Amino acid sequence: MSFVVAIDGPAGTGKGTVTKILSKKFKLVNIDTGATYRCVTLAMLNKGIKLDELDKIKELLNNIKIEIKIEDGEQKIILNGEDVTKKIRDKEVTEQVSQVSSIKEVRLSMVELQRKMAEGKDVIMEGRDIGTYVFPSADVKIYLDADLEERAKRRFNQNKEKGINMSYVDILNNIKTRDENDKKKEIGALKVAHDAEVIDTTTMSIKQVVREISGIIKKKKKDIKMQEKIYKARKETGWKKFVRAVVKVVLRTAYRIAYRVKITGEMPKEGAYIICSNHINYLDAAAIVLFNKRKVNFVAKEDLFTHGILFWLGHLFDAIPIKRDMQDIEAMKRCLKVLKNGELLGIFPEGTRKGMEKNMKAKNGAAYMAIKSGVKIIPTGIHGTFKPFSKVYINYGEPIDLSNYKNQKDKLDEATDIVMTKIKEFTEKEPTN
Ligand code: DC
Repeated sequence: MSFVVAIDGPAGTGKGTVTKILSKKFKLVNIDTGATYRCVTLAMLNKGIKLDELDKIKELLNNIKIEIKIEDGEQKIILNGEDVTKKIRDKEVTEQVSQVSSIKEVRLSMVELQRKMAEGKDVIMEGRDIGTYVFPSADVKIYLDADLEERAKRRFNQNKEKGINMSYVDILNNIKTRDENDKKKEIGALKVAHDAEVIDTTTMSIKQVVREISGIIKKKKKDIKMQEKIYKARKETGWKKFVRAVVKVVLRTAYRIAYRVKITGEMPKEGAYIICSNHINYLDAAAIVLFNKRKVNFVAKEDLFTHGILFWLGHLFDAIPIKRDMQDIEAMKRCLKVLKNGELLGIFPEGTRKGMEKNMKAKNGAAYMAIKSGVKIIPTGIHGTFKPFSKVYINYGEPIDLSNYKNQKDKLDEATDIVMTKIKEFTEKEPTN
């Protein structure tokens, strides 16, 4: 999987400079998407194509060849074989590029090119719409901003260094017009992605901005590494089975010393089932797993796996990590695989501890999977205070068949309610036998 850093924001916020430094620091391929629009603009100017000559523009797009190359550590922009790195920063190009990049056909063509340039690589892309349109699932999204006057001042100094002749007032007006234009675009308008980190660079040095973004990238890389470790399903081996059996006996004995465990109801000896239980304590999942003769693959929130011993136990017992705040397709697939293999799956539909007590809406995942796989749900009630040496009851109910809800996606809430009502029943009363 490639790693994508999106650096968006208006002109003069330092995107280019910061992106260059970060690309070297983190060994990311630097893709300046603004340069692609500038190339189209330059090609149009060279051929005398006007903004409203759509047929000619389309033909130009069909034959244009834009490349970004690194030579002696410097980025070079190549248009149809010619090095145009400097030319694309000329006044004429700068004045027209925003309008050119507003043309739908140009945008679609350049976005396709930009995505192709990034294919299979770890990249850092600077632009306006990277985090919102080109790569909406980018790993890191940064939106750089700064006051208009500060941005114009920076661009003026930058141009002076590069020998580009444009007055401060011209630059200020150009940036202002471009900002307005870029924000109004039909596709890929300049806006902040909802999950982007906004950094106002008005009073910051480049070094400070680089340091801040570096911190964000490093953290993301660390998280991804952790995630990969968490999500890596460990193969079942004879040794793993043996260790699991030993650990189960040891932990069960410890559990029995701490609590008087009482189990009522029947657990089917074979076949796939989803055990849906209430969640009152961190130790209730352990009770279900340890006091079941069969292996229960429990669905657990992924942050639990960041603790060393829990990480190890989670993998030993084939727990399935789940991201809590989103539809976790990967976790769902693993759950369905467990059911397909005829195994037991354990889920807390409350999603969080004491969800029922807090009147929280139960999650539909269990009902969805039961309906999708045709597997029955065993409603389970855990009862107890979990004070040392107190009683802990595990009450298994009759399996619930939800197959009559097949193809009724809109009735998932109803199906979940049926399960939750049963769970509640087994939770509230202490069993008599
Ligand atoms: O970053 P820059 O100044 O080189 O960008 C040139 C123009 O291209 C700018 O007016 C906005 C446009 N652009 C865009 O619409 N989408 C991008 N991803 C990058 C640039």
